[in-house]
Amino acid sequence: MSFNWCFIGTGKIARRVAKQIMTIEGHKIVSVYNRTKKKAISFAEVFQGRVYDTAFEAINDSKVEGVYIATTNDTHFDFIKLCLENKKPVLCEKPLTGNAKELQKLLKLNAKNQTFFSEAMWTWFNPVSLQVKKWIKENKIGKIKSADCRFCVPLFGYKKNIRLSSVEKYGGALLDLGVYCVRYMYELFGLPNRIISTGKLYNGVDIFNKSQFIYDNFTANVASRFNLYQGDTCVIKGEKGTIKVPLFHRANKAILKTKKERVVFKDNRPKFTYQFAQVAKDIKEGKKESFVSLKSSLEVLQLMDEIRKQIGVIYSCDK
Ligand SMILES: NC(=O)c1ccc[n+]([C@@H]2O[C@H](COP(=O)([O-])OP(=O)(O)OC[C@H]3O[C@@H](n4cnc5c(N)ncnc54)[C@H](OP(=O)(O)O)[C@@H]3O)[C@@H](O)[C@H]2O)c1
Repeated sequence: MSFNWCFIGTGKIARRVAKQIMTIEGHKIVSVYNRTKKKAISFAEVFQGRVYDTAFEAINDSKVEGVYIATTNDTHFDFIKLCLENKKPVLCEKPLTGNAKELQKLLKLNAKNQTFFSEAMWTWFNPVSLQVKKWIKENKIGKIKSADCRFCVPLFGYKKNIRLSSVEKYGGALLDLGVYCVRYMYELFGLPNRIISTGKLYNGVDIFNKSQFIYDNFTANVASRFNLYQGDTCVIKGEKGTIKVPLFHRANKAILKTKKERVVFKDNRPKFTYQFAQVAKDIKEGKKESFVSLKSSLEVLQLMDEIRKQIGVIYSCDK
């Protein structure tokens, strides 16, 4: 199937994604916008696409079938709004917006325009995550006793990277890394009854956050940080066994261990390809969202709003 993408933003993740898009048969980048034009030009030299001076022109290139937004968190709202107002199908990097209130505004706007809109939450297009969800649904490990989901890795030079360390850019470990942990627990177990969170702040953003998600019969521990390695694995323990997912947000394998069996589910394909192939198919079929739903994006933002409230991270969109 052919599909023509417009890229808004040509930073690190855009380049990683573009490399994989080139491997999907029929997918092309036809149009590009970046705030700093010379970076858009050097991007297009490698990955193709016509470079435009404004995002408005780029998304309105007549060949464009879908727009991918890969700019910093604080800019997502305006770029998504631009796409929805122009009825351009849009896939935007995580987190969709700074808080739930901003996403609600966009959903309201889109209720009129009915344009395809989805979060680039690639973890949940990954067959490994979907297999883990299936094991939980099939009750393979029985009644859940505990869960631990952490994304605690040293991001070298994070203090100098304003995308990560400034409150103006909606930085912090929770929105950058923790979004995957919160989403993982949400996808497997739904909304918790209660959350108890603590964190450590630097420049008004969290370099560390830790939460207990209290469910009916168990507690899930969720943590993210970018100043120290403390693991990036998800472990779920049940009465009958354990599920372990190393590098859970981009997993190539998950291990199910019970008294009866040990199963290793593996998938080594480049992980962004699943998300982009699925979203292109959804757009071609006229769908308005993907199976990674907007309701789930909204509820995860509401959980992160609550964590930020408890640890004291306040963005301009909260005021
Ligand atoms: N899915 C994943 O695995 C993954 C991984 C990393 C990041 N992300 C997400 O991807 C997004 C970008 O992250 P990144 O690592 O690619 O960051 P990055 O390398 O710092 O790139 C940031 C991009 O945003 C643009 N930008 C910054 N401020 C802007 C503004 N005020 N107006 C317009 N454009 C602006 C930059 O343009 P200039 O070139 O002009 O500075 C650049 O294109 C974030 O939302 C992040 O959460 C996702």
